Amino acid sequence: CRVRRYNFNVVMKNTTRLCSSKQIVTVNGKSPGPTIYAREDDTVLINVVNHVKYNVSIHWHGIRQLRTGWADGPAYITQCPIQPGQNYVYNFTITGQRGTLLWHAHILWLRATVHGGLVILPKLGVPYPFPKPDHEVVLVLAEWWKSDTEAVINEALKSGLAPNVSDAHTINGHPGPVSNCPSTVGFNLNVSPGKTYMLRLINAALNEELFFKIAGHKLTVVEVDATYVKPFKTDTILIVPGQTTNILVTADKGAGKYMVAASPFMDTPTVAVDNLTVTATLHYTGTLSNSPTSFTNPPPQNATPIANNFISALRSLNSKQYPAKVPQNVDHSLLFAVGLGVNSCPSCNNGSRVVASVNNVTFVMPTVSLLQAHFFNVKGVFTTDFPGNPPVAFNYTGNPPKNLATNKGTKVYKVSYNDTIQVVLQDTGIIAPENHPVHLHGFNFFAVGRGLGNFNPKIDTKNFNLVDPVERNTIGVPSGGWVAIRFRADNPGVWFMHCHLEVHTTWGLKMAFLVDNGKGPSQSILPPPKDLPKC
Ligand code: C2O
Repeated sequence: CRVRRYNFNVVMKNTTRLCSSKQIVTVNGKSPGPTIYAREDDTVLINVVNHVKYNVSIHWHGIRQLRTGWADGPAYITQCPIQPGQNYVYNFTITGQRGTLLWHAHILWLRATVHGGLVILPKLGVPYPFPKPDHEVVLVLAEWWKSDTEAVINEALKSGLAPNVSDAHTINGHPGPVSNCPSTVGFNLNVSPGKTYMLRLINAALNEELFFKIAGHKLTVVEVDATYVKPFKTDTILIVPGQTTNILVTADKGAGKYMVAASPFMDTPTVAVDNLTVTATLHYTGTLSNSPTSFTNPPPQNATPIANNFISALRSLNSKQYPAKVPQNVDHSLLFAVGLGVNSCPSCNNGSRVVASVNNVTFVMPTVSLLQAHFFNVKGVFTTDFPGNPPVAFNYTGNPPKNLATNKGTKVYKVSYNDTIQVVLQDTGIIAPENHPVHLHGFNFFAVGRGLGNFNPKIDTKNFNLVDPVERNTIGVPSGGWVAIRFRADNPGVWFMHCHLEVHTTWGLKMAFLVDNGKGPSQSILPPPKDLPKC
């Protein structure tokens, strides 16, 4: 194993997209920023230098960070942010993981433009558990606003209403096509006939779950969230913000140009959404650039059956070499209601604001990081009584607006080292049912069950897959439905769990698990690095 060093200079950059220009926050002047390459067992040192006016922190989304929560990155959860003019070296070792992940800013809405790929290759000499592709390509899906994204969310917080949706989706930074800006050119992926490509798909969008497809080509899914799956063929991928998916595509058409499309998935009838589709081109070498492109229809925005088919096809590889270590018994069986609420807001335009909550608690960000408070025993930063009493205070049958108000608090759920945890994430849909891509830091979990409507412990528990459920770090809670996840708390520290729709995180759909140290030193949090930023 090696040490891999990266320099991330966080700098402003004037960028033109959709025929208009603005200053954006970038890493090294690019958005998406640099792809990090490492092998399993490598140590990665990333020196992040903040040259902008905002506080900054960066999260290595999906990296387990075993005992190194100091390098996880969510501001005020595991570190104080890196202040303007300061730097911090993120230092972590990649253990037991290989595949595609992503990195992104974890403060304010900076991840709109501060994001990139993170590729973990298998250990030297260890092959993929599928035929080796001829080429590998990272495809970052994201969103683009013509206005400044910090202004977009600040406006929304002032009004109490939902922020404006993005003006376009992008593939590797390219929006398109956009009718009011004809000069926009989509991303072009050149392929050679007969070769197989592994596309490392990343959904770095702030607020959109996405479908992905390629005209005329079957996609073979081989890995999600840096865990291998039983390979299967599909026409359409569903990928929610924070998720990653590796697919194999064979250029078996001989010639031509084929549309690559990413389009939103949103099965909420009551929420206004955009239906922007971003396209790229799969371009066979030797095909003239003015030849026509084979077209594919993106799925309709509310194509729940397509989403369900894709999700139910996902299984852990569960081979001898890569067993699925699903906890068979649980020490903590939790039901978390996730959803939106409304709190009064005298300073907001209409006297109230949209909030979001987990078990009726709208999480309030602390002003020192939870991990520092835990490690150094600083009192008064958080309480360990998540969610407090009563556990689910929503009155689901009561009348609006009284049944919509949420409690506030900086509450964590505390467990002992190595405890096993089951969480049923239930979308309450009390204002409007909505998809919630929920991400857990510090762990992979197994998605043991999923359903529409309300979770019924008596019936649904019997149908859990405890053999080969897909293992991941981010999961879509279906609109008005539920998912059940299981994980082992074998990583001491404070670990954030939140909706990866940035707007819902801002509104408070977040909480944290506190995992105590185990007995031996190898089961304890490592001491913080000397350069850990101060608040
Ligand atoms: Cu990718 Cu806490 O986020």
